[in-house]
Amino acid sequence: MAPATAFHRALFAFLIAASRVSAQNATHASSPSEKNATVLILGGGVAGIIAARTLHEQGIDDFIVVEGREELGGRLINLEFGAPGKQYTVEVGANWIKGTQVCDGSANPIWELAKKHNVTTEPCDWFGSITTYDYNGYNNYLDVFNATVGAYTNATIAAGDRVAQQAVDLNLQMGYAIIGSASKTPQEAASIYYQTDMSPTETSWIASSWRHNFTYNPEAGGFSNANEMSIDQRGLSTIILDEAKAFLQPQQQLVNHTIGTIVYDEQGVTVTTVNGTSLTADYALCTFSLGVLQHYDVKFEPTLPSWKVEAIQSMTMATYTRIYMQFPEHFWFNTQMALYADRLRGRYPVWQNLDIEGFFPGSGILVATVTGDYSLRVESMTNDQVQADVMDVLQTMYPNTTIPQPLAFHFTRWNSDTIYRGSFSSWPASFVPGHSQNLRATVADRLWFAGEATSLKYFGTLQGAYYEGLNVAQAMAKCIQGDGQCEGLEPAKTVLNAEAYSV
Ligand SMILES: Cc1cc2nc3c(=O)[nH]c(=O)nc-3n(C[C@H](O)[C@H](O)[C@H](O)COP(=O)(O)OP(=O)(O)OC[C@H]3O[C@@H](n4cnc5c(N)ncnc54)[C@H](O)[C@@H]3O)c2cc1C
Ligand SMILES: *[C@@H]1O[C@H](CO)[C@@H](O)[C@H](O)[C@H]1NC(C)=O
Ligand SMILES: *[C@@H]1O[C@H](CO)[C@@H](O)[C@H](O)[C@H]1NC(C)=O
Ligand SMILES: *[C@@H]1O[C@H](CO)[C@@H](O)[C@H](O)[C@H]1NC(C)=O
Ligand SMILES: *[C@@H]1O[C@H](CO)[C@@H](O)[C@H](O)[C@H]1NC(C)=O
Ligand SMILES: *[C@@H]1O[C@H](CO)[C@@H](O)[C@H](O)[C@H]1NC(C)=O
Ligand SMILES: *[C@@H]1O[C@H](CO)[C@@H](O)[C@H](O)[C@H]1NC(C)=O
Ligand SMILES: *[C@@H]1O[C@H](CO)[C@@H](O)[C@H](O)[C@H]1NC(C)=O
Ligand SMILES: *[C@@H]1O[C@H](CO)[C@@H](O)[C@H](O)[C@H]1NC(C)=O
Ligand SMILES: *[C@@H]1O[C@H](CO)[C@@H](O)[C@H](O)[C@H]1NC(C)=O
Repeated sequence: MAPATAFHRALFAFLIAASRVSAQNATHASSPSEKNATVLILGGGVAGIIAARTLHEQGIDDFIVVEGREELGGRLINLEFGAPGKQYTVEVGANWIKGTQVCDGSANPIWELAKKHNVTTEPCDWFGSITTYDYNGYNNYLDVFNATVGAYTNATIAAGDRVAQQAVDLNLQMGYAIIGSASKTPQEAASIYYQTDMSPTETSWIASSWRHNFTYNPEAGGFSNANEMSIDQRGLSTIILDEAKAFLQPQQQLVNHTIGTIVYDEQGVTVTTVNGTSLTADYALCTFSLGVLQHYDVKFEPTLPSWKVEAIQSMTMATYTRIYMQFPEHFWFNTQMALYADRLRGRYPVWQNLDIEGFFPGSGILVATVTGDYSLRVESMTNDQVQADVMDVLQTMYPNTTIPQPLAFHFTRWNSDTIYRGSFSSWPASFVPGHSQNLRATVADRLWFAGEATSLKYFGTLQGAYYEGLNVAQAMAKCIQGDGQCEGLEPAKTVLNAEAYSV
């Protein structure tokens, strides 16, 4: 796309001004030539592409997907990893399909897309195929580990009881302690960290139990308790890129266009990229990550209402970091996973072995994982410093092994990347359903919001992004086809739960 000349920009500014005046009369009657599209879908990740597909299915094709990166897919990103001649396509973003389907029960739509597009996946055994280590090297504490698995199930049940009693929400670590499973040792702490999405203190007890049920517990409306990992050499992004190929026309997509400003009112929206290209439309659907919204990377004019700002700032954008290493030989555990308990909580606790049957046998690939503050710490270090830190832990795990230097090393700095500002949303205990409703709610009937973070049932996941793109676009389609009788998605507006202090 050629950059607009000064003349074009001036002409365009005039056209916007002209369209704004005429638009004051009839919202949808303004002639299409005055606007670039009826809908601008801002962001081409899972939520954006599924929203586009949904509008298309409703007969609305006058939309443009505007994406900052040079390709669609969002947080579905793969990488050719490894030394020359020993390369594998690995996922640096989402790689697991969490929850699949039991018989003809409810299906994870991501699982259905994977089947539709022939994406090769491999079942994971996170709880049964695991080896345990600590600061003394190998140490079998599977009994401790297994007890925390059982306690998690109990915690999800106790969370349901708390909802019934209208008790306050707390974080998962507090939940474990309340049901009698406080972590007294680094081994217990590492085990609980593993069970709690690697963020026991950041995650709500109730919301994570709720999501767990809707993902993994068929009795409670969930898909299945299986996790499938993509090993497809085209990348897991195939599910969304191939889906887009079937309906998305070239004139409906604009990549390499990072949005800087969104001006909106009851008549429409004008979106301007950081390089000065402007587009006008009747509606915009914002699918930027929660982190992007939290950092004001996109400027809204007028500023967003206070109920929206509170919703944005009271959810958490978590950071989750997978560190890929390829070694000349396989010297580590033979299970799928390993857990390492350091004296410092959060120091490289979770390991995944990809050099194993079903995954990439013979690849020499081992993955270390960190989250939260430890992720921010590694992002602030150089690659060499992080590699030395990881090698130090490996030496602790294998005190008698001479560990070779890796042939290849990679990790992605999700938090520092201004197009993401983190990996996925996490629901803290102080975030309540009214906040979630406000995060998704429409502003001025024109600005709509969708993405993994707006999902009440599946925040933080691919299915969350999928359902939000689908549901919000259905509501938009009703609005667009309703001759200006637009309802939008209502906010809860006030979210109150504080009691006055009695002093
Ligand atoms: C490391 C990692 C591991 C994960 N693992 C899993 C997993 O195993 N299973 C799972 O279910 N989920 C996982 N997730 C979460 C999953 O990837 C996300 O929930 C999902 O991809 C989010 O989709 P989305 O459409 O809501 O957002 P995004 O994919 O972020 O789409 C938003 C789009 O907006 C674009 N954008 C941002 N700012 C601008 C701007 N200013 N202008 C224009 N465009 C902009 C972005 O480039 C992006 O393409 C993981 C995420 C990460 C990062
Ligand atoms: C609005 O449109 C109607 C019908 O096209 C026209 O009669 C009316 O004068 C317009 N009003 C304004 C304020 O432009
Ligand atoms: C949007 O529409 C205006 C007016 O028709 C036009 O000048 C501009 O080039 C369009 N923008 C893009 C990115 O196509
Ligand atoms: C996007 O930008 C990249 C890098 O500048 C360029 O290689 C690519 O061709 C651009 N893509 C499109 C569709 O303009
Ligand atoms: C998937 O694989 C099956 C069997 O190999 C084939 O019939 C089908 O056409 C493939 N579908 C796609 C979308 O590639
Ligand atoms: C832990 O649970 C697994 C099944 O998930 C089982 O195979 C293993 O024997 C158990 N180990 C201990 C020590 O309880
Ligand atoms: C889970 O709760 C049941 C019933 O109260 C109890 O018998 C069991 O010991 C608990 N399991 C764990 C691992 O805490
Ligand atoms: C999760 O499912 C269990 C078992 O069906 C149920 O007892 C519990 O109340 C549910 N938890 C929540 C938070 O809904
Ligand atoms: C925007 O402009 C900058 C500086 O001219 C350029 O480097 C960049 O590629 C442009 N980005 C996009 C998305 O057009
Ligand atoms: C490492 O070697 C020492 C000395 O030979 C031995 O005592 C120790 O058990 C070994 N540790 C492991 C984890 O194999």
